[in-house]
Amino acid sequence: MTDNYEKALEAAHFLRSKLPKVPEILVVLGSGLGAFADTLEQSVRVDYRLIPHLPTSTVVGHHGRQVCGYTGGKCVAAMQGRFHFYEGYTLQQATFYLRIAKLLGIEKVILTNAAGGIDPSLAPGDLMLIDDHINLMAANPLQGLNDERFGPRFPDLTDAYDPDYRAIAREEAARLGIPLKSGVYAALLGPSYETPAEIRMIRCFGAHAVGMSTVPETIVARHMGMRVLGISCITNLAAGVLDQPINHEDVLEVGRQVADRFIPLLHAVIARM
Ligand code: HPA
Repeated sequence: MTDNYEKALEAAHFLRSKLPKVPEILVVLGSGLGAFADTLEQSVRVDYRLIPHLPTSTVVGHHGRQVCGYTGGKCVAAMQGRFHFYEGYTLQQATFYLRIAKLLGIEKVILTNAAGGIDPSLAPGDLMLIDDHINLMAANPLQGLNDERFGPRFPDLTDAYDPDYRAIAREEAARLGIPLKSGVYAALLGPSYETPAEIRMIRCFGAHAVGMSTVPETIVARHMGMRVLGISCITNLAAGVLDQPINHEDVLEVGRQVADRFIPLLHAVIARM
């Protein structure tokens, strides 16, 4: 674990030498949502392959680079592509970029994702504020020895998704006339989509949407005391809700279609974080 701290420090030093300024907020862009990074001003791009000890992104629709730039006078680092458990990384590897971000000096995180809608109130194209999560990955990124320099052995996950940030997101969405639902996000390992029977089970558990990311990242961010805002883009209805199959191309396409609401909402929220 000591090893991880030193590696994260080395990567943070590298990024510090590439970026004009320490970013204030890290924004992680989910499948099909990468276009936000192109709207940042005076941006600097850093390919993940150049960042020491960072894995590379293997998923179609994820660029694998960090774009650092400005919006509303705030310096933001946007990750175009994240690392998933299903790609074969350990959860420690998949969340390592957050360790780097923390050691770089970033304290605020926006996690976005594509998700399948379970609750009948959700439709493809909806944006859903994450109020809470359910970890169904049967794994935890904090498993193993704890490095106290990052955070405590038993971190609290009450209000894992920052209540003040959620209030800001709701206010800004209302002000801009952007419909914003809210609910509980359940994360599964993937990469296969769920079966209809699994979706019926997850609905009974109290989840409104389902995906394959975000939960490990929230756990690691909260371990280090970073404040988290989570937003899901509902790209499809979960398995069995409609009598039709789910495919990754449709997920990416719907992600791209919500850009006209997703991008202005992110800019407005960032300005107030
Ligand atoms: N299930 C899991 N992950 C997803 C889905 C889904 O239906 N849609 C987008 N990501």
